[in-house]
Amino acid sequence: MINALANHYILPHSGKGITKAMAVDALTKSINLDSSIANVFASVAVTANPDHSAHYFDLDQVDKHGLIEHDVSLSRNDIAFGDNHSFDKSIWEKVMETYGDAAETSFELASKARYGRLMASKKAHKEAGKDFEYGIKEFILSYGESALFLGSLGSPKEGKIPLEYLRVLFQDERVPYKEGWRPSSRPITQSDISHMIFSLIAANEHKAAEAADVGLGTVHAVTSALTSILPSYCTIM
Ligand code: HEM
Repeated sequence: MINALANHYILPHSGKGITKAMAVDALTKSINLDSSIANVFASVAVTANPDHSAHYFDLDQVDKHGLIEHDVSLSRNDIAFGDNHSFDKSIWEKVMETYGDAAETSFELASKARYGRLMASKKAHKEAGKDFEYGIKEFILSYGESALFLGSLGSPKEGKIPLEYLRVLFQDERVPYKEGWRPSSRPITQSDISHMIFSLIAANEHKAAEAADVGLGTVHAVTSALTSILPSYCTIM
């Protein structure tokens, strides 16, 4: 999304010198993200700048592994395989295969696509004898990112967006304005994001296995962890 906003000249087109204020302004005005969430993202992004006295970030700094960037991206490869920041067509197309002939997303399909990518990434690490990093933080970010595209490109409640919008965001790195998308008429809040994350988890038929994998044991433990961690995580991140 931030690449897209830079491509639209809403953020600096060079991708350089993005201050917290610029990022918050772009996210609140362009996609109607609630300002408190926009502030969290923007504050974390600034910490990616290796110059700790700087009050801005460059787009090519936010791929710092373990900060926001993590294994199991839908459209990028994992750091163990080299390039963790360039769009990876084969990974993305594999993710999109899950949607088959569907014209729009649903919580079920988005959840299945995300889980499929998790399994593929895990397998690739195992086969290559590389360390795979997927714990509660990655779990929240991974689900959170699917929630973000569903919420910002569609209705935060329903999880439905035209697949065309998804392709435009990821493949063309722009917002699908000319395809008909318009920002949400009300701000997208943390509670919207939580609702979408829970809907995505509920739709995952392998949620128990994933809960065990991230060390929380049960789906109930995952839900409690999200309810208690997510709000504070958003505040402290
Ligand atoms: C200052 C604000 C933001 C920053 C610095 C930021 C940064 C990042 C970074 C570094 C990643 C890579 C994570 C990974 O390894 O997959 C990422 C992924 C993602 N971001 Fe953002 N982001 C911001 C705001 C947003 C917003 C508002 C959206 C709303 C659509 C969004 C949607 C996504 C999605 C869908 C992914 C997953 C990409 C994938 O799996 O390939 N981001 N973001």
